[in-house]
Amino acid sequence: MTQQKITLFDNKRIILGVTGSIAAYKAVDLASKLTQAGAKVDVLMTAAAQKFVTPLAFQSVTGRPVYTDMWQADSSGGLPTHIAHVGLAEGADVLLIAPCTANTLAKIAHGLADDLLSLTTLAARCPLVIAPAMDGGMYESEVTQFNLRVVKGRGVQVIEPDEGRFASGLVGKGRLPETPTLIGHLRRVLGRGGTLNGRKIVVTAGGTREAIDPVRYISNRSSGKQGYALAQAALDAGAKTVVLISAAQHLPAPVGATVVPVSSAAEMLYAVLEHIASADALLMAAAVADFTPEHVAAQKIKKSDAPNDAPTLALTRTPDILLVVKKRRADTGFPRVVVGFAAESHNLLANARAKLERKGLHLMVANDITAEDAGFEVDTNRVVLLDAAGGQESLDLMSKAAVGEMIVRRVAALLAPPTQKE
Ligand code: C5P
Repeated sequence: MTQQKITLFDNKRIILGVTGSIAAYKAVDLASKLTQAGAKVDVLMTAAAQKFVTPLAFQSVTGRPVYTDMWQADSSGGLPTHIAHVGLAEGADVLLIAPCTANTLAKIAHGLADDLLSLTTLAARCPLVIAPAMDGGMYESEVTQFNLRVVKGRGVQVIEPDEGRFASGLVGKGRLPETPTLIGHLRRVLGRGGTLNGRKIVVTAGGTREAIDPVRYISNRSSGKQGYALAQAALDAGAKTVVLISAAQHLPAPVGATVVPVSSAAEMLYAVLEHIASADALLMAAAVADFTPEHVAAQKIKKSDAPNDAPTLALTRTPDILLVVKKRRADTGFPRVVVGFAAESHNLLANARAKLERKGLHLMVANDITAEDAGFEVDTNRVVLLDAAGGQESLDLMSKAAVGEMIVRRVAALLAPPTQKE
């Protein structure tokens, strides 16, 4: 799968340290995806890493020189790399060591600098992230756990290894997480200090499911993609807490989000009220059912032999979550900012503006669901942003990720209005 551009990685320089674990082959995919996302990736390999993968593999996917030997002169024939490494580390935005062996971890924990990677790590002033990966019981061993505590105590971010089967056939904890997870952790680090720094953001996503019986339900075509993209955009903007109240079923959780799975509109209301108590913003991207079966059958509803026999479903209204939130906000002041979504098939702007007013929103994201390249299920969206002051901004067709970033930008501005110039 190709990797979309990630705004946060634009012009960022990432040093990727690769050490001698069989998982080094996965680092080639990581280097490739980071490059596709827009980052400049400088790979440093230990001698052991080169036994598993060649520098050429990394050079091919990053299009940049790969550093392996601290005594080698740099490509311009200038300083040997053991001096150039200081510059290499200086300009970097983050240094990620993935996979990080027990040996390299031990070196970092104790300040050894006997190869190019450990030397660069010692010299680096940028955030350091390590993804330990090792076979057998090495990860659980007392000394490895001690070294992990040491580096964590110094502010190094450690990405937990996955559990699973090792190359040796043993099963346990120590596998390198998959590329999207590693990228998610990097986004969290690079997003620090962004426009939502320290904020708590609650996002709802997906279409609710209203049970008819234990097997069947009524739902809608919402995929949850826009809500998940919003949650990711909030994380990229440095939000401290992102709660993703999700009725979507098959989307990967953004790294750093607290996912609260819900099914029905009633469950979603309950979760929203629980989480907005101290929230800076609520972004209601979910397509909440308007109607729910009056009674849920305890057993699966059976069909009889009569060909025309079919039950009649009596429906009742679901709670309007945003109306309940409006009341709560009037009493408590939380959430500070509320964003709603309007999916309309006709009279888009008039309907969206009326809803913004009735539901007491700061921002309404209006979505024409009749367009094929926008709205439900697809990866792109074309929306109009309406604000409470009467403003209206039509955005071009763009990815849901980019729409998420635009909305987050508006939310950040609403939370921290720019100081008025005289
Ligand atoms: O009224 P309508 O459903 O078109 O409004 C859409 C907005 O209201 C969305 O932000 C949706 O999440 C929210 N909504 C809600 N509770 C409902 C139905 C919709 O909060 N029962």
